[in-house]
Parts: sequence; structure tokens; C-alpha cells
Amino acid sequence: MMGCSSSMHSTANSLRADFQTSISDKQKLIIKSTWNTVEENRTKVGKQTFLRVFEVMPELKTKFPGKVDIEQLKSTRTLYGHNKILMKSIENAVTSLDDNESFVTYLVELGRRHQVRPLKAQYLEVIYEALMFSFEDLFQEQWIKETSDAWGALFRFMFEAIKTGLHDT
Ligand code: HEM
Repeated sequence: MMGCSSSMHSTANSLRADFQTSISDKQKLIIKSTWNTVEENRTKVGKQTFLRVFEVMPELKTKFPGKVDIEQLKSTRTLYGHNKILMKSIENAVTSLDDNESFVTYLVELGRRHQVRPLKAQYLEVIYEALMFSFEDLFQEQWIKETSDAWGALFRFMFEAIKTGLHDT
């Protein structure tokens, strides 16, 4: 187990280095300048993302803590559970774009804590696709390739870090 945790540390280190190369400075600027729109529509984006996730993979409804009620999710005016957690983690990713060391370590550790939970790497793919879908819906004609590439790079990176801790690749 000790060997395992030290390899986790070196993996987290190399992931932090990857962060610098996988998201360019220009992409960071794009993310920062478009974040406000996401923030203003946080509830809508969080809801829509999870509605999409459950539409694409209905069996995920039973995997999250508590019972997922689609009607309740559709009508809620506030975020709760994993839709709230996900939007918060995106906010943390945006605010730590220039200083991501502790955030990356946190994500790897979060993935590690999910080892005992019913999270699989393939589910992260579904969440990734759903996020890109609801961002596109939010930005409409402003969802140009540069913007989509920038957010896509950030989400990929976040989910890679979680996957690293999860040990399910
Ligand atoms: C299919 C995907 C996922 C499943 C099935 C899942 C499942 C779970 C479960 C069962 C818990 C325990 C809740 C409790 O004890 O009350 C939990 C906690 C948590 N999950 Fe997830 N999760 C998923 C994805 C994610 C993602 C993508 C994130 C972040 C980006 C995330 C962040 C958290 C956080 C922050 C907690 C609180 C406890 C902690 O920090 O360890 N989860 N999750």
C-alpha cells in the first residue's frame, strides 16, 4: 500500500506538469473570459448536464447517493448533490488555472476516495460529453472551436486526474 501511495504522488506530480502543457495560456484566457456566463447560468448548466447524463446512461440514476428523481431534478431552482459538486469543482478548476498544484492533488485524491464508490472511468466520459453538450447549448453561436477546445481541455484534464486516483483507465 505504501508503494501504491508513493506512486500516486509521483503520478500527481507528472499530472501537474501535464497541466501546463495540456492547457495553453490562450486557452486559460478563453476559459476565464467565458466563465462569467457559466457562473450566471450555473443551476441551468448543472441540471442540464445531469439530465443529459441520465438520458444517455439511465443506469447511472442508481449509482449516485440517494435516489435520483428526474422530475425533481428538472424543476429544482437550486443545485444539490453531485450536480452542485460538479459545478463547484469546475469553479475551483477555473479559479486555480494559474496555480493548480493543490487542485490537481485534490482531484487525484478525490478519485482515490471514489475507488470504493460505483464510479467507473467510462462514466466520466459520459459526464464529459454531457458537460460539452450543455456548454454548447448555453453558448449557442459563441461556442466556436477555440472556446470548445479550451473547455474540453480543462474537463479532460480534470477527469484524467480523477481517473488517475480511481485507477480505472
Ligand atoms: C458516475 C459518477 C459518480 C458516482 C457514481 C459517484 C458516487 C459518489 C458516492 C456514492 C459518494 C458518497 C456520498 C456519500 O457518502 O454520501 C460520492 C461523493 C462525492 N463525489 Fe462522487 N461520484 C461520481 C462522480 C463524481 C465526480 C465527477 C466528482 C467531481 C468532479 C465527484 C465528487 C464527489 C465529492 C466531492 C464527494 C463528497 C465526498 C468526497 O469528497 O469524497 N463525484 N460520489
